[in-house]
Amino acid sequence: MSAIVAFISIFLLHVVTVVSDTIPQCLSLHSDPSHPISAVTYFPDNPSFPPILEAYIRNLRFSSPTTPKPSFIVAPNHVSHIQASIICCKKFGIEMRIRSGGHDYDGLSYVAEVPFAIVDMFMLKSVQVNVEDESAWVESGSTIGELYYGIAEKSKALGFPAGVCHTVGVGGHFSGGGYGNMMRRFGLSVDHIVDAQIVDAEGRVLDRRGMGEDLFWAIRGGGGASFGVIVSWKIKLVPVPQVVTVFRIEKTLEQGASDIVYQWQYVANKIHDGLFIRVVLSPVTKMGKKTIRAKFNALFLGNAQELLQVMNESFPQLGLVGEQCIQMSWIDSVLFWDNYPVGTSPNVLLQRHGTAEKFLKKKSDYVQQPISKTELEGIWQKMMEVKKPVFTFNPYGGKMSEISEMETPFPHRAGNIYKIQYSVIWQEKGGDVASRYLNSIRSLYDYMTPYVSSSPRSSYLNYRDVDIGVNGPGNATYAQASVWGKKYFKTNFDRLVKIKTRVDPSNFFRYEQSIPSLASAHSISLVSE
Ligand SMILES: Cc1cc2nc3c(=O)[nH]c(=O)nc-3n(C[C@H](O)[C@H](O)[C@H](O)COP(=O)(O)OP(=O)(O)OC[C@H]3O[C@@H](n4cnc5c(N)ncnc54)[C@H](O)[C@@H]3O)c2cc1C
Ligand SMILES: *[C@@H]1O[C@H](CO)[C@@H](O)[C@H](O)[C@H]1NC(C)=O
Ligand SMILES: *[C@@H]1O[C@H](CO)[C@@H](O)[C@H](O)[C@H]1NC(C)=O
Repeated sequence: MSAIVAFISIFLLHVVTVVSDTIPQCLSLHSDPSHPISAVTYFPDNPSFPPILEAYIRNLRFSSPTTPKPSFIVAPNHVSHIQASIICCKKFGIEMRIRSGGHDYDGLSYVAEVPFAIVDMFMLKSVQVNVEDESAWVESGSTIGELYYGIAEKSKALGFPAGVCHTVGVGGHFSGGGYGNMMRRFGLSVDHIVDAQIVDAEGRVLDRRGMGEDLFWAIRGGGGASFGVIVSWKIKLVPVPQVVTVFRIEKTLEQGASDIVYQWQYVANKIHDGLFIRVVLSPVTKMGKKTIRAKFNALFLGNAQELLQVMNESFPQLGLVGEQCIQMSWIDSVLFWDNYPVGTSPNVLLQRHGTAEKFLKKKSDYVQQPISKTELEGIWQKMMEVKKPVFTFNPYGGKMSEISEMETPFPHRAGNIYKIQYSVIWQEKGGDVASRYLNSIRSLYDYMTPYVSSSPRSSYLNYRDVDIGVNGPGNATYAQASVWGKKYFKTNFDRLVKIKTRVDPSNFFRYEQSIPSLASAHSISLVSE
């Protein structure tokens, strides 16, 4: 009997060493045979490789022939495919990139300078809404549009606080924070996550209880890709009124934009927490003359009459009148904010590939003191001098100020009046063109230094920006990573490093802005000493 067992185990050992000689063999061996992984694995010689790779590249800067390509792509439709990908990437010394919606502004979910594979989550996109307990399980490969659609299909009284652009992926969005136009009432997406399923560096599938509270804390804003592959999330839905109100008002400098934006800084973070007024600023030419256009986009969680009263009391400078208010359902307001004409069917939220992709670069800042009128005018001047910048001011306050900085890794809570997103978007090809746009956004960022948060100058992780610092090749040290890490996470960075060192000591989940493991950083310094 024991001889047979011994024989079988020797035989198995032999089989294991033989059949995992190649990557496809390794992947098959470590995944569930009833869900063949070969059917969802794409090597460069597969005709589907280019379209699969390109499908979720949302920034054309990372779609050129010289952009490094993965050795292979696995598009899991079963959790064992994720487990096998981790085990085999480790075995073959290949780095892994995890992609959900592919909206990473600097392409870190699908580009690397070393041999790498992509785990591409787009097949794992179920949304299961439970109206009774006002919760949902949503898989990481879903878009937030699919989530909003799934909720609205089941209930007109429930919604979820997350981003504005419906093609954003749940995987990256939730693991980096997730803010949108209900944040002043409800906070961020991460403030409403109650459970998750993750595959860790050992290939184990863990829920909240299995992973423990530290790791569960880390993945709600600390960036998932430093810790594992998040398969799905359980979220608590939030109540939305039957009728919400939106408006969009444009003012140029000639129509008093400077005064109104200046005033906005004093009210936008203090006004009624059901009201979110975003300002989008861009240089335009009106009747042959350059000017700045300020677009005020608003969502109010209530009816038009209440909104008019709130505006009359707190922000009469904008001059809102009844005809500018549009009442609608919450799901229609999602479409309005995503720039669809009023009356568009919510079905468009299920479209994953809308308008043609463009070249882009974004950066972010936090404003903690109102900027004076003269200084604002200086900023407008500077904006008109460079290439096509767009500034978006997003107000904070409300619920955001009530949540402690340490509650989640996302630290930008009380004390911020608004966040700025800087953006340049272009369609022309070519390196020269790209550097002109990149220079223009970088020079504006420098210009803004005196007006924004300092020590550290804070940034929002989901507005990925490699300009603020990246890990070097190999295992980053604490010192290297804290350059960018403190900007995204402030003092929470240290807790993230502790958790990383415990759950992924060998630093398998690493990339240009991954949280460092002190265990691996240490082994490097031992070698080099
Ligand atoms: C048009 C547009 C509009 C946006 N609007 C908003 C907005 O309103 N509010 C806001 O907060 N943000 C917004 N963002 C930013 C957005 O939240 C981030 O880019 C977000 O990280 C995108 O998630 P993704 O899954 O699409 O991206 P990906 O590129 O797939 O991933 C981003 C990062 O998360 C990691 N990751 C992805 N999936 C997983 C997973 N399953 N497990 C572990 N790690 C994972 C990736 O490796 C990468 O590091 C917007 C972005 C764009 C392009
Ligand atoms: C606005 O408020 C003032 C008092 O502050 C009031 O006299 C006026 O009627 C209000 N207008 C509207 C439209 O509510
Ligand atoms: C990173 O650290 C791990 C273990 O801590 C080590 O095995 C690996 O070789 C290191 N990688 C590099 C590139 O130095």
